[in-house]
Formats: sequence, structure tokens, C-alpha cells
Amino acid sequence: MSGIVGYIGGQNAIPILIDVLRRLEYRGYDSTGIAVIHDSSLAVRKRAGNIENLKESLRNEPLSGSIGIGHTRWATHGKPTENNAHPHITGRIAIVHNGIMENYLTLKESLIKEGRSFISETDTEVIAHLIDKNFEGNLEQAVQKAVREIVGPYALAVISHYDPEKIVIARNENPIVIGLGKGEFYVASDTTAILSYVKDIIFLDDGEVAVIKKEGVQIYDSNGKLTVKNIRRLGLNPILMEKGGYRHFILKEIFEQPRAIWDTVRGRISGGDIIFEDFRLGDSEIKKVNKIFITACGTSWHAGLIGKFMIENLSRIPVEVDISSECRYRNPIMDSETLLIAISESGETVDTITSLREGKRRGAKTISICNTIESSISRESDITINVNAGPEISVASTKTFTSSLSALYLLAVYLAKVRGAINQNKVTEKVQGVLDLIGKVEDVMSLEEEIEGLSRIFYERKGFLYLGRGINYPVALEGAMKMKELSYIYAEGYPGGEMKHGPIALIDENTPVVILAPKTSLYEKNLIDIEEVKARQGVVIVFATEGDTEVRKMASHVLYLPHVTELLTPILFTIPLQFLAYYVALRRGLNVDRPRNLAKSVTVE
Ligand code: AGP
Repeated sequence: MSGIVGYIGGQNAIPILIDVLRRLEYRGYDSTGIAVIHDSSLAVRKRAGNIENLKESLRNEPLSGSIGIGHTRWATHGKPTENNAHPHITGRIAIVHNGIMENYLTLKESLIKEGRSFISETDTEVIAHLIDKNFEGNLEQAVQKAVREIVGPYALAVISHYDPEKIVIARNENPIVIGLGKGEFYVASDTTAILSYVKDIIFLDDGEVAVIKKEGVQIYDSNGKLTVKNIRRLGLNPILMEKGGYRHFILKEIFEQPRAIWDTVRGRISGGDIIFEDFRLGDSEIKKVNKIFITACGTSWHAGLIGKFMIENLSRIPVEVDISSECRYRNPIMDSETLLIAISESGETVDTITSLREGKRRGAKTISICNTIESSISRESDITINVNAGPEISVASTKTFTSSLSALYLLAVYLAKVRGAINQNKVTEKVQGVLDLIGKVEDVMSLEEEIEGLSRIFYERKGFLYLGRGINYPVALEGAMKMKELSYIYAEGYPGGEMKHGPIALIDENTPVVILAPKTSLYEKNLIDIEEVKARQGVVIVFATEGDTEVRKMASHVLYLPHVTELLTPILFTIPLQFLAYYVALRRGLNVDRPRNLAKSVTVE
């Protein structure tokens, strides 16, 4: 949550800090700010609101300097005002910070007793005072002493005009990386944000403090000892970070889905077989697994719910799916015969990380399905299945969701194959299903225009209801979530059969009901749902399988998608729901890439 940037080198830091902040805005955009060392003094500029406000202020009154830090904020402690914006300057230092300081009130009280005064409501200002208090001319020593007092996760970057020529950064549970250029260095809370500047990255680990000078980098471990770190070369293409001619990132990312799914699948299938080389778990260990436990948040949790259907259906291993923020506090049942799967796009969701650690502590073998290489979740799990959707800039997940589903599908087939639950012919049939799916995902893109038309009819409605059954019930949840996130319209996702136990009371001629009715084993039941809604004057929008003439007679709005096997229907049927949410939000004049209050990477509880 929130984004951190830093630059030290031969160039003017300001345009670089601004550019990286723009790329980090998906982590929060309540306020932005920068601080630079200029003519032996600290200069700071910050504004409430998004980066445009900061840019305008810099146009009116420019700043310059070759050492600087910056921040784009998602508010935790204190309102999103200019006063609470980072960087915070206290005495001799400027700091930008991500995380939650759990003991900040106690420390604040004792700092006040020592005569220090506070001007913001943030926990960050407490850290700033701690560093300033410990500062005796050497910035890294002050930071090392200060961070020992912090309880809770943090990532921070600090500069001082009393010890200029350096940026000091530190990390505990919140990500921060150093990008290595030629005679210059970059700092960021997210590797993708500095992708167009550097390829070589050093990832900081928990408890480490780094000193970054123009001449080089020194990193100290949590005991204050100098440590040697590996440099990782990133293979990501910076073009993926641009809009590429699309009006919005989210639209581009919706259209990228055939490529994203293919990149996730290829390399894991060959000649009608599954070759899951990155699934490094021996066959005998796979056969020993007696339970799979999936943990995730938000859209990734929806992917997990669908994964349960896929895995149970094919391998017959029982699967439990738990929201990470619940899982971590409820004493879940896991042991050495449990396979714990953590699903996360960012790889930094704190509740998911904590659940993963909890699973490990209980002896479970851990797997992550993650779209961010080298993220905390990827690095901490025993086995990492990379989702190769590429960077997703829009805050609302689209391509990562369907790509994660593709990875889960392959995993389900692989587990079933190894455990002998399906024979080779079945494996080949399943692999062919995924290959055929890519073209069908492309076909679904042609629904865009029709869905834009629907948005014209429905964009002013007060609420939406989404219904699906079986493996498409989580798709209803995801469709409703997309509608809420993007359009701020209340939307409810429900299992079709459960509607009559409550949500049916919502139905009248003003509430559109989106029903997922693909030709699956539950198709006939979907027809009952349609009838029940119609009987209450509900307006029904049905997503059905091509060639289905039955639904045409029943519903006012029917959109057709190609036929795929039941386990793959969620991948296909999610896409029109993404379009629907996008166009409804667009008509309502909303910021579709950066919906209010949300952040891409949720690194706080
Ligand atoms: C949905 O569009 C969001 N991006 C959100 O629900 C997200 O899935 C959730 O915050 C979990 O994030 P993660 O996948 O990065 O762990």
C-alpha cells in the first residue's frame, strides 16, 4: 500500500521521481510528495490528491536536486490531507514510509514528553522523530537504531542534508527494492515501477538497512553486519507498463487476456501432456497429500473458490478455501499432509503472507500462484507457480484473475494425473481444452460493443444482482465485485439456488439480475433462476452458450459465448462481466483505472 520512490545519481531527480510516482499510483493516490537535497538543504513539496496536483505545483515553482525520495499515499493513519502527506520532515531528516506502526501511540507519547511536537496524525512522523533523535551525523546508524523500536511492518527511505550524498532505506515485511543503473540508483516499493530505468535489482529482506550512494550500495542485516546480496536481472518488458493506444489500462488489460492466458499456459504443456516443471513436488509427496488449503483475498479468493471446483472435480482431493484475513486468526487445520496454496496477484498482501507463514509453521507444504516474480509470497513459498499475465496497472484485477484460473486448471489436471485420478487420454483432452480456450477468449472480446450498449440502459441503476451456480457461483461474486469497485454501484453476487433464501426480496423492475447460464451440468437449474427472477418483474441479463435458443425465449437480454467444457467456463464468462463493469463506470464518469479508496497492493491489515 502506498508507493515509495528514490533516486540518487547524476540526473535531476525530479522528473524521475514524478515519473515513477505516476507508475506507482495504483498503490494509492490520496496524496503525493517529494523531497530533495538541494544546495545543502532539504526541499519538500507535497499535495493532497493525485500526482497532477504535485506536478502543477512543481510547474509553478520548480525544484531540482540529484538525490531525492517520493511517495504516493494510501491513507492509514490520518486523513488524506497535505499535512499528513509524505515526505515528513522532522529536524534534520526527510522520510517516506509504507506500513503500519503498531506501537506508534506509546512512542508518540514518550517523544512528546521529551519535548518533541507533532504536526501530522501519521505514525510516519513518529518514525521520523525516532530517526532524528538517534541522529549523530551518520544517517544509517540513526535508521538502524530507530527501526529497532518499530513494531509492525514497514518499508522506508530517508535522506538528510546533514549526511547528504546518500539515501538510507529499510524493510520489514513491506517490499522495497534497489534498481542498479550506471552511476545511479533507484529505489522503489515495486520493481515494475522502475522497469524502464533498470534491469538489475536488489531485493531487501526483512530487518535489512541499505545505504545507497552514487558510488555504490552497502546493505546491513538485522544485526548490523554488512551482507552480500544477489543481484537479480528482470526479464519484464517495459512496454507492458504503457497503455499501448487504449483509452484506459483496464481496457488494455481486458483485451490482453488471450495473450496473458497463453503465456501462463505455454511452457507447462507439450504434445498433449502437462509438464509442470516448476511444480517441484515429487510424485510420492503429491500422493501423500490428503487436503488442499487455499488462502487468498478479494479477486484472488474468488480464483481460489473456482480452483476448489477444478481440483476436487479432477483429483478428488478435498479442498478448503479461506479468506486470508480470516484464516490467520482462526486456528486453521493444516499439517504436513496439507498442501497450502496462496494465490496473490501482487504477492505482497499482508493477510495472505501471514496465512502462508501460518501454514508453514503447521508443517504444510506451500505453493504460491502469483503474478509478481520475486514478491514476498513467491519467495516465501516452497513452490512458486508464476502467473505470466504481465504487470497489471489498473487497480481492479482482470487479466491476472483469468490467468490465475488457467494456472489453477493446469495444477488440477497435473495433480489428478499424478494421483492416477484421470488417465492419459483424459489429460490430453484437458490440455486440448485449454489450447482451444485461447481462441474462444479472443472471440469473447467481440462482445464489447453489445455490452457497451447494455451499459447505456443500466448505468443509472442503484443495484445489480449476479447469480451463478456451481463453478460459476464465484464468477458471480467476481462480477459483482468488479461492478462495485469500478462503478460504485452496490452489487451482490449469489449462488443461484440461494437467491430464494433472501436476495429475492431485492428483485423488482429496477434491479438488473445478471445470470450466468452456460451449458454445464447445472444449466437446467439456471433456467429455474431465470424464471424465478422474471416472475418478480426482474430485468434479466443472461450470459449463455452459443446455440442456446431456450434462454432467448426467456430473457430480455441474452449474450452468447462460445462453448467450453464446464471447468473452463469461469475463464470465459468472467470477461463480459469485466466489460459490463467497465462501461457502466465509464458512463458514470468515473476513474476506471483508479477507483476511489482502493489500492492495488494491500500491505496493511
Ligand atoms: C480486485 O480487483 C482487487 N485487485 C483485489 O480484490 C485483490 O484481488 C486483493 O486485494 C488481493 O490482492 P492480491 O491478489 O494482490 O493478493
